Amino acid sequence: MSRRLATEIAGLKLANPTMLAAGILGLTGSSLRSVVEAGAGAVVTKSLGLKPREGYPNPTVVQVDCGLLNAMGLPNPGVRHFGEEIKEVKETGVPVIVSIYAFSSEEFAKAAEVAVGVGADALELNVSCPHVEETGAEIGSDPELVTKVVRKVKNKVDKPVFVKLTPNVANIVEVAKAAVEAGADAITAINTVRAMAIEIETTRPLLANKIGGLSGPAIKPIAVRCVYEIYREVDVPVIGCGGITDWRDAVEFMLAGASAVQIGTAIAFKGLGVFKSVTRGIDAYVGKKGFGSVKDIVGLAQNF
Ligand code: FUM
Repeated sequence: MSRRLATEIAGLKLANPTMLAAGILGLTGSSLRSVVEAGAGAVVTKSLGLKPREGYPNPTVVQVDCGLLNAMGLPNPGVRHFGEEIKEVKETGVPVIVSIYAFSSEEFAKAAEVAVGVGADALELNVSCPHVEETGAEIGSDPELVTKVVRKVKNKVDKPVFVKLTPNVANIVEVAKAAVEAGADAITAINTVRAMAIEIETTRPLLANKIGGLSGPAIKPIAVRCVYEIYREVDVPVIGCGGITDWRDAVEFMLAGASAVQIGTAIAFKGLGVFKSVTRGIDAYVGKKGFGSVKDIVGLAQNF
């Protein structure tokens, strides 16, 4: 792996600026390990809560023309039961970021404490799931609630705290600033875009939950715009997420201001080889442009 690719996010050392996005392959130690073996610089788990949760009935994921539509309903075994899984992937030495969700700031703080207790190297607060009631975007659309959640979590744990934001708001920068002022160490932008699809023969919504979140290439320009706008206003790293399918997408996010990128939906379409092809492509681009480090390209598009 080229030394040009090494980077650091909120104190976490990454061999390259790619991460597994929350929600895909993040529920077992062995699947997380396979992502590390495929070349990811860090991994983010599926969102975990304090209590086990079954999630919605099927269908929970459908393919649409321009990506994936999902509404899983945050199924997970509960963060307490995740210690063994984390142990398995931590043996690789690659940072493990535990995504957590909760229904109140107190519960977020408790889940954060448990996540750190079972081995999280950092936390990603899911205040952006677009369809589960009383959590996710219902919290992440309100800067005051985000402030409360981040403060409570930061008071409880001494690991880096990332906050994953929803694009389904009028002003994402306002929410990012609230998170950072409350102590967030990094911002992840973005979670999925609230969306739906209807099957015209049966006249039924395709997802059992009817409404879900759209991911994949369709949302990339939205995500790039969010990263670009947030980067100018906050002084913590921004992690880009949304439709990154090849190295050109990753470079575009970095030029907008992302210090690292998360990959999720592309794994479903291209397989785990996407991590190597993205990192090789970023490395070649950085070298071709005459830079010594991937960090040198972060935010270059802001100069125009
Ligand atoms: O349905 C889900 O589990 C999705 C979560 C999210 O989008 O954050």
